[in-house]
Amino acid sequence: MIKELYVLTDIEAISHKAASVFVEFAESAITSKGNFYVAVSGGSTPRRTFALLSSEYRDKVKWDCVQFFWVDERCVPKEHKESNFKLVYDLLLSKVPLPEVNIHRIRGEQDPAQEALRYEKDIKTSFDVEGFPVFDLIMLGMGEDGHTASLFPNSDALNETERLAIPVYVEKLKSQRITLTLPVLNNAACVLFLVSGSSKSDVLSYILGSEGKKYKYPAGLVNPAHGELIWLVDKEAAAKLKQVSDVLNA
Ligand code: 6PG
Repeated sequence: MIKELYVLTDIEAISHKAASVFVEFAESAITSKGNFYVAVSGGSTPRRTFALLSSEYRDKVKWDCVQFFWVDERCVPKEHKESNFKLVYDLLLSKVPLPEVNIHRIRGEQDPAQEALRYEKDIKTSFDVEGFPVFDLIMLGMGEDGHTASLFPNSDALNETERLAIPVYVEKLKSQRITLTLPVLNNAACVLFLVSGSSKSDVLSYILGSEGKKYKYPAGLVNPAHGELIWLVDKEAAAKLKQVSDVLNA
């Protein structure tokens, strides 16, 4: 596994770097196999990246070759302000020439258990695989409690070894979500984390340092076996990290 850490000035710098990584991986996948499979997260951190991809970087991607998926979804209708589909649609997908059939939405308005099965089937059909798909790029965020996707600390969902997508009830948020599982995240060709802000500095230092193994934060369990792992963090989030070299060797 190739592991890279970029400590950047602020969210603006993270967003430009993330958009460049998206463009680079899209170009390389489309050149080698004719398509680019990407899954993205919701939350506030990637908002600017999506906006950049639909403006400054828009013409650098062959959008008709992109297959677009979500890492997780809140169980709300697609017009709801908390919908991850809505977030990405408003900022990106409504502004680029991506064919509608290439948009693989998680239907948050459906029964979560049934919808997780349907989404899993959609992924398998789209990739034409029976086992775990290899996404070209998965974009993740990290919560202050170390969660990523909708995989929260101490959740049974962390033990899933067979399913691609599962429903999860998040006790602390009192809400239902659907999430991709760790085996899917860890089978990706590249996982890109975007982390910004001082509120995440403690957990980030545990995860990227050797202590992280002890605490088993979900974000720290993401280690693509045959892929690249890239962390884009800003100075505030990185404030408690040790030397970058220590981090990379941990
Ligand atoms: C979601 C996400 C979630 C998110 C983190 C970080 O739907 O909420 O997929 O895992 O990436 O909570 O969120 P922020 O970017 O808002 O800090």
